[in-house]
Amino acid sequence: MKKRFFVIIMMAIAALVVSACGSSETSETNGSGKKELRVVTDAAYAPFEYMDGDKIVGFDVDFLKAAAKEAGYELKFENVGWDPIFVEIGSKRADLAVSSISINDERKQTYDFSLPYFLSTNKILVREDSTIKNAADLKGKVVAVQNATTGQEAMDKLLGKNNENIKKFDNNNLAIMEMLSGGADAVVADNGVVEVYAKNNPDEKLKVIEDNGSFEAEYYGILFPKGTDLKADFDKAIKKIVENGTYEKIYQEWFGQKPNIEMLKAEQDKASK
Ligand code: ARG
Repeated sequence: MKKRFFVIIMMAIAALVVSACGSSETSETNGSGKKELRVVTDAAYAPFEYMDGDKIVGFDVDFLKAAAKEAGYELKFENVGWDPIFVEIGSKRADLAVSSISINDERKQTYDFSLPYFLSTNKILVREDSTIKNAADLKGKVVAVQNATTGQEAMDKLLGKNNENIKKFDNNNLAIMEMLSGGADAVVADNGVVEVYAKNNPDEKLKVIEDNGSFEAEYYGILFPKGTDLKADFDKAIKKIVENGTYEKIYQEWFGQKPNIEMLKAEQDKASK
């Protein structure tokens, strides 16, 4: 009898040890009883995600916080940089990433995405006196892009994959700096980013060129490890905050205008099928 009791105690201890070791380093339950998720981002992409002092802020941050609140999760953001996002999510060291990440077929093979939450397209940032008028004019010019983005992909297609005229940078701010210092004729990046940059830096005398014939419409999604359970929760929450006006409020705060909710919903319906 005594021996049996001892065995049961030992088994209970073993179970405790195993469950403690098994708890992943990504998410943990915190004081409020809610699960805390580790979010990774590249906070050099204003106004979507950027550093304000030591705080990570932006539209994406507010959007994700609202969705997480709705879904019942707490978030811990970490600014890891662009390329590391895909390593962290691929190895499941992070639970999710928000970073203006465009949903595309190539990425969908390796990762899961939430429902689309933001319409974006690449645009061209040039100096005001530039003669560049469209994407075709970029041939023979030096173009700065952020490495491994859809902007780089578009330039690979237009100018040829290993074209030396495509200068690739770890983050988009460095690409813009390169143009400002005369090392590039143009930057190709998401419209939201280049438009806000040109507007907020009038002294730099820049303009933004749209070329919808050359650049596709893209939608941002939250990035998850493949097979995650979180997708269902976040998709539901995204639908809810679009429905109840929270999304619109956050959009209005960051962009000073109303989002096209009908178009977004149509895109979300398409992605749900
Ligand atoms: N939307 C583009 C892409 O997915 C660029 C995103 C870059 N985001 C960032 N936080 N640097 O490739």
